[in-house]
Amino acid sequence: MERIPTLVIGGSGYVAGELLRLIALHPHLELAAAISDSKPGERIGAAFPHLATAYPEAVFGSLADAERRIASLPVSAVLAAGPHGVSAALIDRLLAAAAAAGTRPRVVDISADYRFADPLAYQTVYGHAHGAPARVAEFSCAVPEHLATLATPHVAHPGCFSTAMLLAIVPLLQLSLVEPEFFVSAVTGSTGSGRAPTDGTHHPRRHSDLYSYGALAHRHAPEVVGVARAITGRTADLNFVPHSGPFARGIHATTQARLLKSISAADFTAALRDFYAGQPFVRVLESAPRLKDVLTSNFAELAVSTNGRTVAVMSVLDNLTKGAAGGAVQWANRMFGWPETTGLLAPAPGWT
Ligand SMILES: NC(=O)c1ccc[n+]([C@@H]2O[C@H](COP(=O)([O-])OP(=O)(O)OC[C@H]3O[C@@H](n4cnc5c(N)ncnc54)[C@H](OP(=O)(O)O)[C@@H]3O)[C@@H](O)[C@H]2O)c1
Repeated sequence: MERIPTLVIGGSGYVAGELLRLIALHPHLELAAAISDSKPGERIGAAFPHLATAYPEAVFGSLADAERRIASLPVSAVLAAGPHGVSAALIDRLLAAAAAAGTRPRVVDISADYRFADPLAYQTVYGHAHGAPARVAEFSCAVPEHLATLATPHVAHPGCFSTAMLLAIVPLLQLSLVEPEFFVSAVTGSTGSGRAPTDGTHHPRRHSDLYSYGALAHRHAPEVVGVARAITGRTADLNFVPHSGPFARGIHATTQARLLKSISAADFTAALRDFYAGQPFVRVLESAPRLKDVLTSNFAELAVSTNGRTVAVMSVLDNLTKGAAGGAVQWANRMFGWPETTGLLAPAPGWT
């Protein structure tokens, strides 16, 4: 059976942990190196006790270890979950080491660094220069459901909030059923802010509470508009209000837009089902989707309501799985020619 050596960037972070969990379950991906900035030489199982049995001996490596490793592997996968602003240069170093050695890695970056087609647009939104502007053209940014053919060697995952929004916005734009202005209210769990606690993001502050942040000014809005434009050829306005929810995992997004003509919820549901026909990870329901039906899985669920003037599309997914590590493995499956569902079909447990 084919096994592709896989390097994970982002060491002891939450998304890297989810990548390591999914790699342990995957028949074709085999961990070659997990790169940690702060913990090289430490056991993976010490950072992630829930993975100790999957990786009883493996230790984190350094970036220099990864450069040597990638140069020695004729083909490899790189699944990158470093912080934005850091990831681009890390990936650039690995790709440069591979190019010098004549080896061929395929990269999926889960950070924001390769989501913009224009490095200056990245700089405007993130407030610092892009770490490897010459590499941007090597990356496509999309959810797998929206890009049938990959024209670049590498992929940028759009991210968790953006996946939830794009799953609603792209079909609404492509089906020409709504005005191209979207109003999104979305709620994320606390793992969305990563492993290092800060006063504003750690769980004791967030549990039993619900509040908005970055209303109408969040940097995911221009990312979603850019990705939707690249996929559909249509420019849209996006009014995005993110919220912190009192749970650890999951995203619930409600996307609203004005209908161009009156259409029933049943007809809209049928249109969305047609749009996602043959896409194993997107389920279009007839009743409101619930986080617990998708948490820890790679599935996303959508449902529609209309009132004759407006449509609301509710979407739910797990931010660490479909919104990050699972979506990245789904892309890796496509890149290496395996069925898109390989290693990703575990259903949600239902009660978490
Ligand atoms: N959390 C989510 O739901 C989610 C969803 C979609 C996308 N993302 C994106 O995925 C990436 C990872 O998110 P996360 O939630 O896993 O964040 P995280 O928990 O903070 O993990 C990031 C990890 O990167 C490593 N790191 C930090 N500084 C580094 C440096 N200078 N060089 C190399 N590695 C460094 C750290 O691990 P070591 O100290 O072990 O190196 C850190 O734990 C981010 O870009 C985020 O925006 C996150």
